[in-house]
Amino acid sequence: MNSKQLFSYILPITKTIKSKHSGTLEITWHNGKKHLNSKNANYSYGSLQKILKIGIEQTELPKVKSVLVLGMGGGSVIETLRTDFEYNYPITAVEIDPVIIEIANAEFGISENENLQIHCIDAYQFVKQTTKQFDLIIIDLFIDLSVPDQFLSEAFWNEVLRLKSSKGDIIFNAAVKNGKHKSIQQLISYLRTKVYRVDLLENVNNTNTLLILKSL
Ligand SMILES: C[S@@+](CC[C@H](N)C(=O)[O-])C[C@H]1O[C@@H](n2cnc3c(N)ncnc32)[C@H](O)[C@@H]1O
Repeated sequence: MNSKQLFSYILPITKTIKSKHSGTLEITWHNGKKHLNSKNANYSYGSLQKILKIGIEQTELPKVKSVLVLGMGGGSVIETLRTDFEYNYPITAVEIDPVIIEIANAEFGISENENLQIHCIDAYQFVKQTTKQFDLIIIDLFIDLSVPDQFLSEAFWNEVLRLKSSKGDIIFNAAVKNGKHKSIQQLISYLRTKVYRVDLLENVNNTNTLLILKSL
């Protein structure tokens, strides 16, 4: 354990970086672990990492040979897949914010390699453009505490469903603290007409709403 990790058990150590997309970002050492936070939300490597891990546990990872992550952030779900689940197949990650991509690299060691492609582009543009299909799609698109409305729209989800392989699953981190409840209920009704199964997980890790979409 280095001195920063040790000191962080007594007082969190914070470094701030400005981003045009997410305002002030904080890199904080807390209880011996480095986190990425926005003003009001944990973006990566804190409770968010636990929440997405719970989502992954609901899927059938052994059948997954390709993953798409929309909203890479600091890359904590990539770390979870690689380390906790020993997932070694290709991952494609999409992130709108070049500042966050740089933080992922410099602070968390997440950078492109033969098994990780990173696209710095708006996720909506990406899903419209790409023709590839994926066995697992993880959608984790937040600006601070909020999922932008476009990512709850049928138009966006029609594009996402096109990118899901026939056996593919989707994890959608849909809200913090029951936000946008009505829009999420409408979306669930729509998705239930399109895929085999949609599970709603509320208060995951006491905060978030996850949707898990499954193929037959
Ligand atoms: C909660 S963080 C993602 C954390 C990440 N999944 C992880 O495992 O560490 C949400 C991310 O969504 C990104 N984001 C928000 N709107 C976006 C958009 N339109 N296109 C791509 N990324 C977007 C933010 O910049 C932020 O990095």
